[in-house]
Amino acid sequence: MAHPVDVVIMAAGKGTRMKSRLPKVLQRLAGRPMLGHVLATAAALAARRCVVITGHGATEVEAFCASQTGAEGQNGLPLICETVRQEPQLGTGHAVQQAAPRLPDDGVTLVLSGDVPLTQADTLQALVAASGGERIALLTIDFDDPTGYGRIVRDAAGGDAVRAIVEHKDATEAQRAIRECYSGIMAAPTALLKKYLALLDDDNAQKEFYLTDVVRHAVAAGTPVVALKTQDATQVAGVNSPVQLAALEREAQRRAAEALMVQGVRLADPARFDLRGTLDCAQDVEIDVGCLFEGQVTLGEGVRIGAHCVIANARIEAGAVIHPFTHIDGGSQGVVVGPGALVGPYARLRPGAQLGAGVHIGNFVEVKNSQLAAGAKANHLAYLGDATVGERVNYGAGSITANYDGANKHRTVIEADVHVGSNCVLVAPLTLGAGGTVGGGSTITKDTPPGALSVSRSRQISVPDWQRPAKAAKPSS
Ligand code: UD1
Ligand code: MG
Repeated sequence: MAHPVDVVIMAAGKGTRMKSRLPKVLQRLAGRPMLGHVLATAAALAARRCVVITGHGATEVEAFCASQTGAEGQNGLPLICETVRQEPQLGTGHAVQQAAPRLPDDGVTLVLSGDVPLTQADTLQALVAASGGERIALLTIDFDDPTGYGRIVRDAAGGDAVRAIVEHKDATEAQRAIRECYSGIMAAPTALLKKYLALLDDDNAQKEFYLTDVVRHAVAAGTPVVALKTQDATQVAGVNSPVQLAALEREAQRRAAEALMVQGVRLADPARFDLRGTLDCAQDVEIDVGCLFEGQVTLGEGVRIGAHCVIANARIEAGAVIHPFTHIDGGSQGVVVGPGALVGPYARLRPGAQLGAGVHIGNFVEVKNSQLAAGAKANHLAYLGDATVGERVNYGAGSITANYDGANKHRTVIEADVHVGSNCVLVAPLTLGAGGTVGGGSTITKDTPPGALSVSRSRQISVPDWQRPAKAAKPSS
């Protein structure tokens, strides 16, 4: 039977090179704090618990962990996330020592770092399997330039067994020539790990308690230490600077784009695509260049997204077309774009916009908290807020719902087949009866009867032979 996994995430370091007030592990990658990625991976592993070691920026990191506790993992299991403060920070071994009392002896402890966001669950699963509850398993990687990393020292007799990890600063010239490096990620039987943690000292070049020294103690005590080598540098890449964060962001985006293309999504250019959340796509979805998706977005069959759209928290149904430069943000209420609807270019859909089948929303039209039934159209320069719009309504250019009286929001109901002319102000609360027409330029403050023409502007007059004022002739000099 597989051993239960408990995860320790080191997140106490300062991150000086980020030059930011925000703790390093809360810097965002693909729209989510780096630590959030690591916690999600732990949840995907069905880890029994996560113990996050905090130090620099502890209050903010702890608040974030509290917000993530109970978030569902991939297996639907809730994530248990605890925090322990490490004060002062005396090294990675000292960090894990702080977590030790929280780790039950019957499990395997997986040590991760909050600033290494893109490790994949299957890689970690393999590492836990390599530990098998009786070995220390190290995730390692060969680097062309291993400077700065802990080197994996193997059996001098030419065998495969790992003898030690030697930190760069403590390594001999011969050891510095070793290209195999410790990634910072290990899996160890918890009871044994605790035993070796208790033996650590800071007698080294950095005067720190090195977690990597548990390997030496394990070898001395006869506990086997194995290495699992990955070829994928991205999975073990840590972030120390904005440059590294941006590089990893690109890599994360490239992977997200590739995963979508494997599913059949047509991205005009995977290098000009950004996802900061989840994007579910049905068959034959096309996405043009420069689009950004955030939160939860669902695209139905045959949906086409034009260039340079920003789309967050929305469901766009089959056959809908979003033209370029459209901004959709459903916030917590969501946005729904019905089947075959046409939106944009330059349209804005805000929380609670619900467009029925075949609705047209054109350029510079803003829709908020409004339902538009099938076939309704607002094609130019308009605002619909807190409105219920019936089928086939035609909403003229420049018309707005005056939904806010300075204190309260009011609803506008526009029944089926109404035509609202251009440049109208509909002062809510208001109902426009079915099939009615509102003359252009009207300010409507009272309900209109079905079928009627309602006009509220002043009647036109024409003054015949009107002489425009003329400038006085210049006196001749
Ligand atoms: C560590 C490893 C090294 C490995 C490298 C991979 C040790 C001694 N060395 O070195 O073998 O090749 O990672 O990147 O472990 N942290 C704490 N508390 C501390 C010190 C660190 O929480 O007291 C956290 C840091 O915030 C960071 C992680 O632990 O998230 C790793 O610390 P870092 O100083 O980056 O380790 P390295 O010196 O890079
Ligand atoms: Mg260090």
